[in-house]
Amino acid sequence: MKVVVTLACVLGLALFVVCSATFTPATGGPSDAEQTTEVMRNALRGRRWIEFKEGERAWLTEKQIQQLINAKAHFMDVTDHPGLRPIDGLTSSTLPDVLIPRHPESIDKLLKELSAEQIGQTITDLSQLYTRFYTSTTGVEGAKLLHSKYSEFARNQSHISVRFFEHTWPQPSVIARIEGTGENAHELVILGGHEDSVGFSTTGRSPGADDDASGSSSVLEVFRVLASNGFRGSRSIEFHAYAAEEVGLLGSQAIASTYQKEGKVVAGMMQLDMVGYVNNNDPVFGIVTDYVNESLTQFVRELAQEYTHLPVKNTKCGYGCSDHASWTKAGYPSAFPFETDFSNINPNIHSPQDTLDKISTEHAREFAKVALAFLVELSTQ
Ligand SMILES: *[C@@H]1O[C@H](CO)[C@@H](O)[C@H](O)[C@H]1NC(C)=O
Ligand SMILES: *[C@@H]1O[C@H](CO)[C@@H](O)[C@H](O)[C@H]1NC(C)=O
Ligand SMILES: [Zn+2]
Repeated sequence: MKVVVTLACVLGLALFVVCSATFTPATGGPSDAEQTTEVMRNALRGRRWIEFKEGERAWLTEKQIQQLINAKAHFMDVTDHPGLRPIDGLTSSTLPDVLIPRHPESIDKLLKELSAEQIGQTITDLSQLYTRFYTSTTGVEGAKLLHSKYSEFARNQSHISVRFFEHTWPQPSVIARIEGTGENAHELVILGGHEDSVGFSTTGRSPGADDDASGSSSVLEVFRVLASNGFRGSRSIEFHAYAAEEVGLLGSQAIASTYQKEGKVVAGMMQLDMVGYVNNNDPVFGIVTDYVNESLTQFVRELAQEYTHLPVKNTKCGYGCSDHASWTKAGYPSAFPFETDFSNINPNIHSPQDTLDKISTEHAREFAKVALAFLVELSTQ
């Protein structure tokens, strides 16, 4: 059975576009052959299958997708992974049901080494690129820049690997891995952020300092400190810089779906996407509560209380608002700290004004602290 519904997509204030959507119910949907034909027909027209929420999808042109981005709408492009859904056996069987921060003494020395200056340097290097849009040559340069920084900080240690994860578009994702030492070394703890950026148009200037150089630079800084101290958990730890987040979480969906197919077990995934903006000199540690794993999120809340002095504030970001959603969709536990309350979001993102001078690397460092604690605590519990 195929049901065609009409979706009203509100784009910004003045713009109103009506799109025709094909809705596939969970049961009694079109046959695989019918669906393949449908997908091929739309792909030939250059359209992408965009999901606004569970079960609400529309085939949109590149131009319509850019309008969605400009309206700061949240969505997932499910063209390449239309059937991604949770399957059993992907979560750790060796973790306690209730996670509690243990605060090992050795962690304090590591936390002190996290440097706001280093975070600022990487943000500067990334945001100097004209854009990091996923199809641009400078977007590819951004991925290479991160890969080379990861490689430099890894210092050829044999238990650390750094690789590109290639996609069907030009910009690769970057994955650095610190091999675990325990019987559960096949289990992963993941810290992610996205390396791409987007402007008013596909060719517009897009420094993306806060969105998301701040997150990917903080992820790198956590790696630098752990690698230079020779830290190894019992579980393995991965650091992800995702390509193509802004156009519908393409890079993270590709990786999460590949890991799922390979049967990889993930103890927990944390996303850092925008960690530098402080609203009204009133810094808070935001914690996203929708489309995340509730118990992992509670653990992150306790880590934030343990390792920062910032007041913790719950917030919601809506469907598919960042890469953690790809992991949630694949059935993996994820958590998402955020720079502020979503109602006080940095107004400069997705524009040429998203620059380093408008954000605080000290604020970003607080998120790096919690992220480092998350990796150390979760990889050793
Ligand atoms: C890492 O190894 C490469 C080649 O094996 C070498 O050129 C480079 O100097 C090494 N880097 C460090 C930091 O040891
Ligand atoms: C959250 O993750 C844990 C594994 O860490 C899992 O047992 C639990 O079912 C997840 N909760 C939800 C609501 O998915
Ligand atoms: Zn972002």
